[in-house]
Amino acid sequence: DWTMAEFRAAKVAQIRAQVGSGRVICGLSGGVDSAVAAVLIHEAIGEQLTCVFVDHGLMRTGEAEQVVSLFRNSYNIPLVHVNAEETFLAGLAGETDPEKKRKFIGGAFIDLFEEEARKVGGADFLAQGTLYPDVIESVSFTGGPSVTIKSHHNVGGLPERMNMQLVEPLRELFKDEVRALGMELGLPQAFVGRHPFPGPGLAIRIPGEVTKERCDILRKADAIYLEEIRAAGLYDTIWQAFAVLLPVRSVGVMGDGRTYDNVLALRAVTSTDGMTAEAFQFPGDFLPRVATRIVNEVKGINRVTYDYTSKPPGTIEWE
Ligand code: XMP
Repeated sequence: DWTMAEFRAAKVAQIRAQVGSGRVICGLSGGVDSAVAAVLIHEAIGEQLTCVFVDHGLMRTGEAEQVVSLFRNSYNIPLVHVNAEETFLAGLAGETDPEKKRKFIGGAFIDLFEEEARKVGGADFLAQGTLYPDVIESVSFTGGPSVTIKSHHNVGGLPERMNMQLVEPLRELFKDEVRALGMELGLPQAFVGRHPFPGPGLAIRIPGEVTKERCDILRKADAIYLEEIRAAGLYDTIWQAFAVLLPVRSVGVMGDGRTYDNVLALRAVTSTDGMTAEAFQFPGDFLPRVATRIVNEVKGINRVTYDYTSKPPGTIEWE
């Protein structure tokens, strides 16, 4: 049995052997996986690594700032932060098809990343925080037999186009092992313990058209939901919890008036690797309390529902 300290030392040696004196560029997604990969690679090769964070503006409240500060201030790892919210919102305007939304985001992400890679003088290697479940769920990208369920934007395409070799130190790991490795590398527990967040971000939690206004509504509701989950001490027992802003309006009543506003779905699941999942059963008064807070505090939402679907047959995300 490997300990994480041994795994860390072995990976550092392996990365050094693979990379030699070459240059490595790493795309940060804002999530735990790419951050752990980057910190590990930085430990192995230091200044030969450049990190690029293409910020699509589809993150939750405060998330982008946390990543930037973690890298620049805590680790002193050089980081190029590309604020591309406008580009992504413009490209998503009018698009309602889930796969087209994903494809656009993946494509724009690659274009912007390539542009930054050129600006820093290119690299010989591309580092990614690909995990074992990502490898399995995306086999069709490499011509394997399975069908693509969803196009994960963090795997496939990029290395061929950029003519670079891949460095993927987390490829054999499951999420809980990546968290253990992150702790081993000294990343803050609050960061390492964060729920997984998909590459395409809030865009796939807004079925239908994504607009700045809908992103803002969703961010507010999601923040209240997660604040209550943390306050109830449930955050770490849940694999993933998030809100989905539905493209449905419903009639409600507030004060003396009729409202006609958006419907929000809340999702929370338990899982060990994201490949299968069960809906989380909240204690009795939790969901009604959250629903009341959201409807009272978030303008634009007048109804809240809870998603009880398991994976399979559902997926964790709605798109
Ligand atoms: P699904 O919705 O397929 O999600 O049951 C399984 C896990 O994967 C995450 N997810 C993604 N992660 N890029 C990512 O990095 C993506 O495009 C993507 N799509 C889904 C999802 O949040 C869940 O943890």
